[in-house]
Amino acid sequence: MAHQSDLIAEDIEAYLLAHQHKSLLRFLTCGSVDDGKSTLIGRLLYDSKMIFEDQLAALEADSKKVGTQGGEIDFALLVDGLAAEREQGITIDVAYRFFSTDKRKFIVADTPGHEQYTRNMVTGASTADAAVILIDARRGVLTQTRRHSYLVSLLGIRHVVLAINKMDLVGWSQETFDTILADYRAFAAQIGIKDFIAIPMSALKGDNITAHSDAAPWYDGPALLPLLESLPVEDDQREKPFRMPVQWVNRPNLDFRGFSGFVSAGVIRPGDKIKALPSGRESRIDRIVTKGGDLPEAVAGQSVTLTLTDEIDISRGDVIAAAASPPPVADQFEATVVWMDDEAMLPGRPYLMKLGARTVAAQITEPKYKVNVNTLEHLAAKRLELNEIGVCNLSLDAPIAFDAYADNHDLGGFILVDRISNRTVGAGMLHFALRRSQNIHWQALDVDKTSRAALKGQRGRVVWLTGLSGSGKSTIANLVEKRLHANGRHTYLLDGDNVRHGLNKDLGFTDEDRVENIRRVAEVSKLMVDAGLIVLVSFISPFRAERRMARELQAADDFVEVYVNTPLEVAEQRDVKGLYKKARAGELKNFTGIDSPYEAPEHPEIVVDTTAMSPTEAAERIVAWLEGELDYSI
Ligand code: ADX
Repeated sequence: MAHQSDLIAEDIEAYLLAHQHKSLLRFLTCGSVDDGKSTLIGRLLYDSKMIFEDQLAALEADSKKVGTQGGEIDFALLVDGLAAEREQGITIDVAYRFFSTDKRKFIVADTPGHEQYTRNMVTGASTADAAVILIDARRGVLTQTRRHSYLVSLLGIRHVVLAINKMDLVGWSQETFDTILADYRAFAAQIGIKDFIAIPMSALKGDNITAHSDAAPWYDGPALLPLLESLPVEDDQREKPFRMPVQWVNRPNLDFRGFSGFVSAGVIRPGDKIKALPSGRESRIDRIVTKGGDLPEAVAGQSVTLTLTDEIDISRGDVIAAAASPPPVADQFEATVVWMDDEAMLPGRPYLMKLGARTVAAQITEPKYKVNVNTLEHLAAKRLELNEIGVCNLSLDAPIAFDAYADNHDLGGFILVDRISNRTVGAGMLHFALRRSQNIHWQALDVDKTSRAALKGQRGRVVWLTGLSGSGKSTIANLVEKRLHANGRHTYLLDGDNVRHGLNKDLGFTDEDRVENIRRVAEVSKLMVDAGLIVLVSFISPFRAERRMARELQAADDFVEVYVNTPLEVAEQRDVKGLYKKARAGELKNFTGIDSPYEAPEHPEIVVDTTAMSPTEAAERIVAWLEGELDYSI
């Protein structure tokens, strides 16, 4: 017998039609390893008859072979078998499975329960309507349960189901169930989960999965599947003001210009007044275009192409919103950040932030606090490590239209991407815009960089020397400045050791302090170039990301990176300041090249090899390179 819906065989048309009009519930399962998650999902797939015959035959055979369940079907094998079919090449390990019953379609995101998998859960949860949190009845509420529940609450998942599993192993004890329930209720209240439904079950035996089980006569609530079939999924987004992030500008020919995207909130009709953000320009909807023809209206959840009555400039990543209640636009925010990368989040380092269809560069401040997700304590933090969650301020290099995450997950939820490796390193939720950013404006100045430089007869530049301690940066920079000065150039030399006596007196040598050290120096050198000076910067500046930030602060061609290339052995042998000796003796921590990394430049404008040339020769080479370009001319 084929183990699938009878309707498929009897009347495929009716089956497909019914399928089309069924609502969809997305849910997430979470729990510790061994709570029985795989078994539960396998059971749901089996009971909803979505397992294909050949898979079933293999499953029965495997179960007998493996014998973990005494000849009965081991549903965990089914899910683990499917797991092998997971899409390759995704870095985040969430498996999505599809099944359906007569009443509803389901997509379940199965996230590994392992401690360090916060990031997987965040990924799986971003679109979930409900979360099924599994608890092993023998073990009760565990650290993992608390961690997952906290994330569920943080991510704003509306429905929480507590699946108290393996009840058969505690003799269906009501007392055990009640104790777990009371424990969980106390914790849920602390984290703001107001409502949840607890179900005693045995996923393995199938009790309280599809129907009420006689094993627990004292339980009068719903079984899991009927509950999942009846949770409301009506989207309240429809009642909110219209929002559509523009995914792409559709311009097949000169006569047509449409803006395509997914309607994230509200309703829109031809004739409605809209505002494009961040520009703030207004127009009206002309047509709502879809593949199947024009629509009289578009609502939250639909993907459409809008055309407007006026030619206004809208690009990918902009937001089209109801003109009467547009989202705010800002470039500084408070947000919760969930860190997902092995390399820690460093305050001040530029990352890319993707929100809706928009990508902007973002810097994150030192966390205001991080949360111990097991105890909910707020802890002081200088950085965020893998799986840590903190509240930070974010500052973007361009303003964006946004909503608080609590109001709109699409316009308030974001991911962070490393600019060099392109890895997704974090995710987050916007709380609100910082008022200070709205009260600070750019002041227009009449004397500008070009006129300041012109008066000096030169072009402002940054010459950024990077290399190990003792590589010879400062000696060379000093010689370069002397030569330029003698040539009548207006210069300034920012030297690491000197700046650390004043402006950066408060900074040490941890990764985060070095990031801040370079951020400040990059900003100072920007001001100096603005003043028309040729600025020599001599800092170890060990990280590519910050050197890139320094480069991007300047206009193109105004940043000249000089790699003072001295191998570690040579710098250590010279050891002019005796610091390598101290570092080797363990008296100096975080020393570059010893127990703190140095990332050599990949594409510097100039490389000087100090083993092959003297400091004077190196300086001459740099001066020769510069002098060809320094004269003021436009
Ligand atoms: S950076 O890494 O943040 O760019 P910076 O150039 O400001 O470093 O300072 C480096 C100088 O500080 C070195 O030349 C050395 O004299 C001194 N120093 C003291 N401790 C350290 C350390 N742990 N690592 C590197 N340099 C150190």
